[in-house]
Amino acid sequence: MTKRVALAYSGGLDTSVAVRWLMENHGVEVVAVAVDVGQGAGGDEEDWDSIRSRALAAGAVEAVVIDAREEMAADFCVPALLANAKYEGKYPLVSALSRPVIVKHLVQEARRFGADAVAHGCTGKGNDQVRFEVGTRALAPDLETIAPARVWGLTREDCIEYAERWEIPLTVTKEKLYSIDANLWGRAIECGVIEDPWNRPPQDVYTMTRPTETEGREIIVGFESGVPVSIDGQNMAPGPLIAEMNRIVGSYGFGRLDMVENRRVGIKSRETYECPGALALLMAHADLEDLTLERDLHHEKLRLEPRWAELVYDGLWFSPLKQALDAFMISSQKHVTGEVRLRLEPGQCWVVGRRSPVSLYDHGLATYDATDTFNHADAEGFVRLWGLGVATWSAVQEHPTGGESPA
Ligand code: ARG
Repeated sequence: MTKRVALAYSGGLDTSVAVRWLMENHGVEVVAVAVDVGQGAGGDEEDWDSIRSRALAAGAVEAVVIDAREEMAADFCVPALLANAKYEGKYPLVSALSRPVIVKHLVQEARRFGADAVAHGCTGKGNDQVRFEVGTRALAPDLETIAPARVWGLTREDCIEYAERWEIPLTVTKEKLYSIDANLWGRAIECGVIEDPWNRPPQDVYTMTRPTETEGREIIVGFESGVPVSIDGQNMAPGPLIAEMNRIVGSYGFGRLDMVENRRVGIKSRETYECPGALALLMAHADLEDLTLERDLHHEKLRLEPRWAELVYDGLWFSPLKQALDAFMISSQKHVTGEVRLRLEPGQCWVVGRRSPVSLYDHGLATYDATDTFNHADAEGFVRLWGLGVATWSAVQEHPTGGESPA
């Protein structure tokens, strides 16, 4: 019986060649699975009908397109926002968030079409292979995984030639300048001249953050239990809300990142990102937490956030520790409700105000004016006890003969 493989299909050159390559080299039938996670966010508009026909033209027995944009927003971007997730303190996990969405559907389609294996188009140098395979093993440990691009040793020219030989229709045969991966949460740009970490990224790499606005403005983002629910008072589902934030914030040219990052496979790579909506929402969300989280809860959350980001970056979206941390994150968000005012100016975005019906900011306690309600006498005993340990240590061990001598 011919075996079947469910292939994560992007419509690009590599995965199109992979369809035929799997048929020829593994003697399998290929089910192409394309998942829309908002790849069109950067204006690189995808035509899913022609992506589907291209898979069939390449030889796939079935080709399915799944619209996972709302799922990507609600079940992947929102949890990342609750965790204020930034890998190495900077990168909001754009690609790392979309792979588990794709894996989830890939496994589902593999089951539906009776496939014994899943395949992806990633090479052996990146993180995405890790995310595809570790994710698949977590959801379906019985499924085999195949990575044609890690095996075939074909250059881009070889791939083009292979496609021509098998009459696989291609959209672009001209030289590709960059490797782009985009979704609702942002856009990753790699390769070409930016592989030299000293080279400034050419302006043409950016599509989500081309500055067009010159007049400053403010936007108010509303949150309920950590989830962004409105812009300027208008309620929106997470998908449209993130898309709208991308549009507004991107038009001010804010949201670019340029960094050298540690990949899971041990390689340092120069990465250029643009994530206007994600970075603005992360800023607003973290600010509302400053106002609404109790101190110990807040401090513990700040310690766990980098761990959450690292797990997801490392392909462990579906893992017991990640599940447990999610439970913590969700519990922590109970009172993260309120509004944050963001100011936008060309190239800049920052918080200028925040408010909440459950704010822990008490003006009577914080103020230095006459309406002060703080009990100053309480401070005296508290501070004395707070310093008791170091005072004892100093008197006995550090300065037994009477302390620092004057200079
Ligand atoms: N370095 C980023 C990450 O690992 C971006 C990867 C982009 N993927 C791609 N196939 N171009 O998450």
